[in-house]
Amino acid sequence: MSSQELGTVVVSGASSGFGRCTTLRLAEQGHTVLAVARRADRLAELVEQSGAGQVLPAVADVRDLEALQNALDKHLPHCPPVVGLVNNAGLSRGFGPMHSAKVDDWRQMVDTNVGGLLHTTALLLPRLIASGRGHIVNIGSIAASYPYTGGNVYAATKAFVHQLSLSMRTDLEGTGVRVSCIAPGMARTEFALVRYEGDQDRADHLYDGVSPLSAEDIAAAVLWCLSRPPHVNVNLIEIMPTDQPFGLGLTRRHA
Ligand SMILES: NC(=O)c1ccc[n+]([C@@H]2O[C@H](COP(=O)([O-])OP(=O)(O)OC[C@H]3O[C@@H](n4cnc5c(N)ncnc54)[C@H](OP(=O)(O)O)[C@@H]3O)[C@@H](O)[C@H]2O)c1
Repeated sequence: MSSQELGTVVVSGASSGFGRCTTLRLAEQGHTVLAVARRADRLAELVEQSGAGQVLPAVADVRDLEALQNALDKHLPHCPPVVGLVNNAGLSRGFGPMHSAKVDDWRQMVDTNVGGLLHTTALLLPRLIASGRGHIVNIGSIAASYPYTGGNVYAATKAFVHQLSLSMRTDLEGTGVRVSCIAPGMARTEFALVRYEGDQDRADHLYDGVSPLSAEDIAAAVLWCLSRPPHVNVNLIEIMPTDQPFGLGLTRRHA
């Protein structure tokens, strides 16, 4: 999908971090971006910065299938064909080992990272197939492949995303729909703040002495996947900060 082949791209988790940056870059290229997230005020800000294309707000919780469908249905009948879906909405809650974790945190991660991704996919796949040039980019994580203490259920939800991406490839054979998975390492977004339940100080300390990835780094990877020619399917991209050679085994550079 190049900027010459404009269409609609749905980005979940568009109100912050990777999703926000990806939305802005796609709109700059002239695409119509259906931006999904729960925070309406954040999406309204994005609409103001639409660039050459346009950003349309779809305020919904991806865990709520009916609300998601209603939010998408408000816009889809008036949009160009849906050529892309960036399944990015996700979160991690808690950092403790399994024996001290909260079941509610596990439920929220599973319902969002797994259930939400399935909801957007189920609702949009028919349109992606109908466009004849659909492309799904799922945001996984290096946590899916490299365990770290406290990653447990979050890592498992991302392993689901990686495996589902491969399974989708086989199911979608012959439809022309491409499926890519991007596995980022540590990136500075609101991710840590959410994980630490709004404790900004603790979230900031996670990056002490480390140069993490930025949202721009991941948006660039998403756009690169989407802009490959139709005969090329990028299956998986794993991207880590140079300071993070393995899982959370960080090289902290203290002066
Ligand atoms: N940052 C990292 O180090 C890192 C590394 C590897 C993978 N990832 C993955 O990258 C993705 C994006 O994370 P990020 O780093 O950009 O974090 P972020 O800045 O916290 O952004 C997360 C986005 O997901 C949305 N979201 C969360 N729950 C949602 C729900 N129930 N319904 C709709 N939207 C929801 C949030 O929007 P609202 O709160 O407005 O709904 C927000 O827009 C996630 O899947 C995350 O697991 C992050």
